[in-house]
Amino acid sequence: TILTASLAKPATSSSLTLRRPDDWHLHLRDGAAMAAVLPATARQFRRAIVMPNLKPPVTTVEQAHAYRERILAALPPGMSFEPLMTLYLTDATQAEDIRRAAESPYVHGVKLYPAGATTNSQSGVTTLARCTAALAALEETGLPLLVHGEVTDPDVDLFDREAVFIDEVMEPVRRDFPGLRGVVEHITTRQAAHYVRDRSQRGVDGRPNLAATLTPQHLLFNRNALFKGGLQPHWYCLPVLKREEHRQALLEAATSGLPQFFLGTDSAPHARHLKEMACGCAGCYSAPVALELYAQAFESVNALDRLEGFASLHGPAFYGLPVNADTLTLHKSPWTVPTELPFADGKTIVPFLGGETLPWRMAD
Ligand code: NCD
Ligand code: ZN
Repeated sequence: TILTASLAKPATSSSLTLRRPDDWHLHLRDGAAMAAVLPATARQFRRAIVMPNLKPPVTTVEQAHAYRERILAALPPGMSFEPLMTLYLTDATQAEDIRRAAESPYVHGVKLYPAGATTNSQSGVTTLARCTAALAALEETGLPLLVHGEVTDPDVDLFDREAVFIDEVMEPVRRDFPGLRGVVEHITTRQAAHYVRDRSQRGVDGRPNLAATLTPQHLLFNRNALFKGGLQPHWYCLPVLKREEHRQALLEAATSGLPQFFLGTDSAPHARHLKEMACGCAGCYSAPVALELYAQAFESVNALDRLEGFASLHGPAFYGLPVNADTLTLHKSPWTVPTELPFADGKTIVPFLGGETLPWRMAD
């Protein structure tokens, strides 16, 4: 139909126009921090799946609705942006909470954080055996389960936690709840990429039942970046960057044209001083440079013609939402990313690749 048709113009050597993209995995925080970072996302993306890992987490439909109102209130005049809300799954989530979430026009997914896996995951799920009723309600309603796919067992090597999660958590859950729709968020390994490539099936509605989001940092960098010339805190996010062979598998998945792979920046803002300290926070603040970095990654394998599907078409199809009507244009016009930006409480934030020169730049 006209609604899902591509608006992409063939990439010339100097510019690229695609349907307006959405960000299917984003951390916006709250209060002054949110107000500081929201315009960067709204400038590039029409919508975003907003993560619920606030302190305290967003666990009820009422909290999700109130958070949505705060986001809309923080949006600068003249910018249009639609936050797509999520609930944070806990051991205490009831089937009724899930049904009410599925009925809300504003809630689009439920997020599984294994307790202790990442930033603000203390209230996460300790064992999925406690969530049987909630998972059954997700299966029944079709509301997607969005997964931080890492086991937290301290005996499992940090770099293996995603692959072990696929085998020990994701596969058993999908076997027990075959109707469940799932997104493995910010995948970082060949195992996750191949699992989602090979095991996703089309439902009766034609939509994939298993999908994955991919971040710009995992498409562009391997774990060497964490240690290049010294410890590099601004490359530290979770799940952590992996070996080059994994990066290549992720890039192959993102540029495959398969509808189960789509854009999710995982832009995760933390103030500069909280990144540049002993025991610094995990998260890359990629929102100000997101589309530029995805274009760079796709161009590196001559796949710019696949960027629009990944950035603007596959996500809406998975979530059952219309594609956006307008477009975004990128120019081949090298520019240097600011080394820091204003953040909350007089603090600053370092955008991902601050100080580096990028080949692509979004047109104003
Ligand atoms: C995220 C954050 O800071 O909220 N950090 C990150 O490294 N990605 C949490 C998360 O998505 O794991
Ligand atoms: Zn995240």
